[in-house]
Amino acid sequence: MRELFNDYVNSMTTYIMFKIKAAANKLRPELEAKGRAPIFLSMGAPTANPPKALLDKLKEALDTDGIHTYSTPRGEKFFLEAIAQYMKRRFGVELDATKEIASLIGSKEGLANFLRALINPTTEDSEKEVVFVPDPGYASYSQMVEIAGGKTFSVPLTAENNYMPDLNEVWEDYLNKDGNPNKVKAVIINYPNNPLGATATRDYYKHVISFCKKHHLVLMSDAAYADLYFDENERPFSILEFEGAKDIAVEFFSFSKPYAMTGARLGWICGNKDAIDELCVLKSTIDNGIYKPLQVACAYILNAPEGDEYTVEANKELKRKQDIFVEGIKELGWPDFYVPNATFYLWMPIPPRYKSSKEFTDDLMKKSGIIAVPGHAYGTYGEGFFRVSIVCSEEKIRECISRMKEDGFYYNS
Ligand SMILES: Cc1ncc(COP(=O)(O)O)c(C=O)c1O
Repeated sequence: MRELFNDYVNSMTTYIMFKIKAAANKLRPELEAKGRAPIFLSMGAPTANPPKALLDKLKEALDTDGIHTYSTPRGEKFFLEAIAQYMKRRFGVELDATKEIASLIGSKEGLANFLRALINPTTEDSEKEVVFVPDPGYASYSQMVEIAGGKTFSVPLTAENNYMPDLNEVWEDYLNKDGNPNKVKAVIINYPNNPLGATATRDYYKHVISFCKKHHLVLMSDAAYADLYFDENERPFSILEFEGAKDIAVEFFSFSKPYAMTGARLGWICGNKDAIDELCVLKSTIDNGIYKPLQVACAYILNAPEGDEYTVEANKELKRKQDIFVEGIKELGWPDFYVPNATFYLWMPIPPRYKSSKEFTDDLMKKSGIIAVPGHAYGTYGEGFFRVSIVCSEEKIRECISRMKEDGFYYNS
């Protein structure tokens, strides 16, 4: 039967987070029996409840007559206007709500369908169109590009380049590796970054815009973590704050992370209106938009004081958890590593006695029931590292550290 399915899907494997979860659940009885019930530091999904004000609005909206019918892929006008207001308030960015914004069923859906709208699919490798993706970067980007019938070229994010590589050097590298300049379609950037937590400077955003303009490329900025940061003086930017961005860029936002509502599936795209039109045409044959009661509740929370209070408190809690984890892992002998000012991720080297990041995270899971993600899942530059997502309770984070101590997970041992 499988041979009847297309080459793209046949060449793929299930998204790594679901595979890790399944592996941990398989081991659950064994782990529970030895007092090591799984603690998930794998998926980037906050475990807190969403803001109460949002849930109250949602409950109220459910009783509105006529609200349970189809929406549109672009989104309800009131929802788009609330986004425009938020973008102005948060980033000082002016957007035409009806032309320069569209709703998404989560930013994952938006990114994947945007790439499908952009790339001319082919199974012929030399003909494949190319997207530059951050490496390490969100594990889904590569598969999204592949399923759209294209291929990726890695943009290396390293401590040496401060996680902001010079794209002109990446272009040279691409040409030196026989890359066809006419096949490059787009660049994906993601700040604050998953898995590193790294943010970018104003100058870097300007550099990326001028690079994309020079080579006539679409710039896709994934800003899913824009509101998860710890220092008011270093608030992450929107690409649309910078001159000329709207000519070439679109940006993806998500309700999942700032409001702890990964299950609701809600986000938006904003920026270049032609690019958004193209996406909406594609989406009109694929989906019928987001459940309207959710749009009501989310439109409310974006600009409500309760929404701002919620994210401020959530970020304070995240910072506390980050401190607990960092302090604990240092006690285990870890050398200094990059401690980010944003996101709930920590990206650390694996102990030198392990041959691969997978060998380390498998051992951590089997011995201690701690579920982390091996760095190779984020690209070739991820090998030698692992990622934890500190979305569980403080108590569970402390429990992870004490299990690691008891089970001998010292950096050098
Ligand atoms: C960088 C990045 N972009 C997008 C997403 C997708 O988020 P959602 O589809 O829930 O909006 C994630 C989820 O982990 C992510 O890490």
